[in-house]
Amino acid sequence: MKGMAKHNIALLPGDGIGPEVAAATERILEASGVDIEWSRLEAGGEFMAKYGSPMPDSVLTEIRHLGVALKGPIATPVASGFASANVTLRKALDLYAAVRPVKSLPGVESRYDHVNLTVIRENTEDLYSGIEHLVQPGIAESIKIVTERGCTRICRFGMELARRQGLTKVAVIHKANIMKITDGLFLECARRVARDFPELEIQEIIVDNACMQLVKDPTRYEVLIMGNLYGDIVSDLCSGLVGGLGVVPGANIGDSAAVFEAVHGSAPDIAGKGLANPTALTMSAVMMLQHIDEDEAATRIQNALESVLAEGVTITGDLGGSASTNQFTDAVIAKLQPARTPATKPARRKK
Ligand code: NAI
Repeated sequence: MKGMAKHNIALLPGDGIGPEVAAATERILEASGVDIEWSRLEAGGEFMAKYGSPMPDSVLTEIRHLGVALKGPIATPVASGFASANVTLRKALDLYAAVRPVKSLPGVESRYDHVNLTVIRENTEDLYSGIEHLVQPGIAESIKIVTERGCTRICRFGMELARRQGLTKVAVIHKANIMKITDGLFLECARRVARDFPELEIQEIIVDNACMQLVKDPTRYEVLIMGNLYGDIVSDLCSGLVGGLGVVPGANIGDSAAVFEAVHGSAPDIAGKGLANPTALTMSAVMMLQHIDEDEAATRIQNALESVLAEGVTITGDLGGSASTNQFTDAVIAKLQPARTPATKPARRKK
């Protein structure tokens, strides 16, 4: 029965502020009454020495087995060192769709009100295949690979999401005027998939123009579908339109597993100080609850969060307040409406 089952979910607290925002989110979920048994997994820089990797095979196996995970940020060294644990995770589990809902929140100061769009980013191909080398000193080459399969499935994922959510405006973002073959393939696949979605209004936009249009008026957009590199940049740009990375959730979804994670990093500057804002990870957990059919609890948590943010009293430093992570978490829990007990069916009248 929906909303009554026990869920076994992987939890990767991650690095830096990860364990702090994960603990806060765990407390909020527990207070909501959703029955979750967490399988805590060791991943991140702290476990490098123990496993020789920030994303050990055993962690990947467990997530594959459970099918759903909630993950905190994991730090990646810049320009050298080990491969990104996040990229490893997305590739190993074939989490091909990055989903980032970007929504204006009450009380969160930002440039725009009424933004409500979702960025769908292809997560496994493009320039992120990591195939790069030094051709000769002073000349470096990076290879962009896209496939018909990869382009088709991300376009289908995005258009299906639009249909499921009753949305009609879908923007397909590309740079096929310059990358005629690779981005041309992306566009060709988008057009082919679009034939199955006649109700959608598909707009094709070149990525630079898309960035300008988004900054001018993001309220015109509902669903945006794009490749990996553009998606990485555009999704952060969109986060900035509604108050930044601290208040935007994310999910990485494949056909057999889904990992829900905040889009911000490990915030080493405030780690361990109890100052982190858990909103983004908690909102990612809300997406997770929707994914596992716990919509009722998801709505209650989202409402509680929004109500604390709207009051603007117990908010964390990044949003201009002075509350600690724990104080913010307590405030959200205090606003949580009790779970609705399943309605009893009215007795049938005898004929
Ligand atoms: P960051 O997101 O960690 O920090 C940027 C700024 O935002 C900092 O001032 C930080 O204090 C603030 N901030 C971020 N999240 C916050 C929160 N929840 N509450 C309050 N303030 C918050 O970005 P940065 O510094 O570029 O990256 C740090 C590390 O995180 C890097 O090693 C990077 O590779 C990793 N990272 C991991 C991600 C993931 O696991 N999905 C995503 C992005 C970065």
